[in-house]
Amino acid sequence: MAHLVWQDDLNTGIEEVDNQHRRIVEMINHLYDVEQKDDKEELRKVLVDLVDYTQSHFAFEETLMEEAGYRFSRAHKKVHELFIRRVEEYRMRFDAGENIVQELRDTLTRWLLSHIRNEDAAYAETVKASMNALSTDQGWLSRSLKKFFG
Ligand SMILES: [Fe+2]
Ligand SMILES: [Fe+2]
Repeated sequence: MAHLVWQDDLNTGIEEVDNQHRRIVEMINHLYDVEQKDDKEELRKVLVDLVDYTQSHFAFEETLMEEAGYRFSRAHKKVHELFIRRVEEYRMRFDAGENIVQELRDTLTRWLLSHIRNEDAAYAETVKASMNALSTDQGWLSRSLKKFFG
């Protein structure tokens, strides 16, 4: 599988979320590049970064949804948790010496793109409306970003 290319139907219209999704796509592409080099240490670092970043993104998204009072935020959070658990299993298999990179990359690609197009797209309207209402509180977004991404 070659590099992923960003497609417009992946946009939620929420700038911060779209930037984070783009970054995840870049990281998946980077994983592909590093895989070609066959450097296990570097590969492990890229995997850990990808998982950490995805987890921060999920936490950020969950805050947005809760803050907006989105009615399916708990279900969405559950979906994130199940996915993280799946990815953790890959990490364990990797640490046990199995070559899971190709499989992980395919799973990540399929799962994340479908999640962005469906579950993430579904909260966009509610979150956008709430963000507009909150726009007087300029500090809120930067505080949340700082909290999850440092
Ligand atoms: Fe997302
Ligand atoms: Fe999500």
